[in-house]
Amino acid sequence: MDTAERVRILAEHVASLIPSGQIIGLGTGSTADAVLNALGRRKQSDPTFTMTGVATSIATADLARSHGFAIRDLGEVDHIDLGYDGADEIDPNLNLVKGRGGALLYEKLVAELCTDYWIVSTDEKLVAHLGTRLPLPIEVIPYGWQHTRDKVAALGLVPTLRMTANGPYRTDAGNHILDCTPEPNVDLLKIAPAIKLITGVVEHGIFQNLTHRAILVDNEGSTRTICRN
Ligand code: A5P
Repeated sequence: MDTAERVRILAEHVASLIPSGQIIGLGTGSTADAVLNALGRRKQSDPTFTMTGVATSIATADLARSHGFAIRDLGEVDHIDLGYDGADEIDPNLNLVKGRGGALLYEKLVAELCTDYWIVSTDEKLVAHLGTRLPLPIEVIPYGWQHTRDKVAALGLVPTLRMTANGPYRTDAGNHILDCTPEPNVDLLKIAPAIKLITGVVEHGIFQNLTHRAILVDNEGSTRTICRN
């Protein structure tokens, strides 16, 4: 089965599980977009379905509004009942690497306010150890980013500045992203606190102890749920 069909099945399943009438953290990326589109279809077929969204990016807020969902700023809510989002890597304890879509800062701020936080993903993103499948994104401020990059590199990461056709990539907060490949035997969970302490680093894409459940789809389109112990 192709990936688009697997994601569609997964998204329909997840959208059917989301309770009506709640404040929902809306993730960013292709999988999260599929869930939001499925929620839009659910709203069309069942006008009693409501939610208030807290978006993790400008693009997600725009998509939610296009489906007629109300959006609140993160600072306007004191809690989020449930959040869902995609991931780039998921380890056996449901720790994650996120940020390939560039939204890791807002995604983490939202995730930290969620009472319940679900990761929604195709199952090839399951890894034995974080840092094996894709580089770790680290958001840094543009001012003097070259020195921040060198300090990141000293922790055993090989950083590359994320680029677009028009120059360095900018996040919704106006920052740059360093995509960092770990050197062999570097444990991302161990160095995460040291990354955060570097002046110039805004946030990294390691999401530790935030996920309550991962809802996955396999190659045949069957879904399953893993809950954190
Ligand atoms: C956005 O910044 C990311 O954290 C995405 O949630 C993550 O990269 C998964 O994206 P896809 O669902 O597009 O693979």
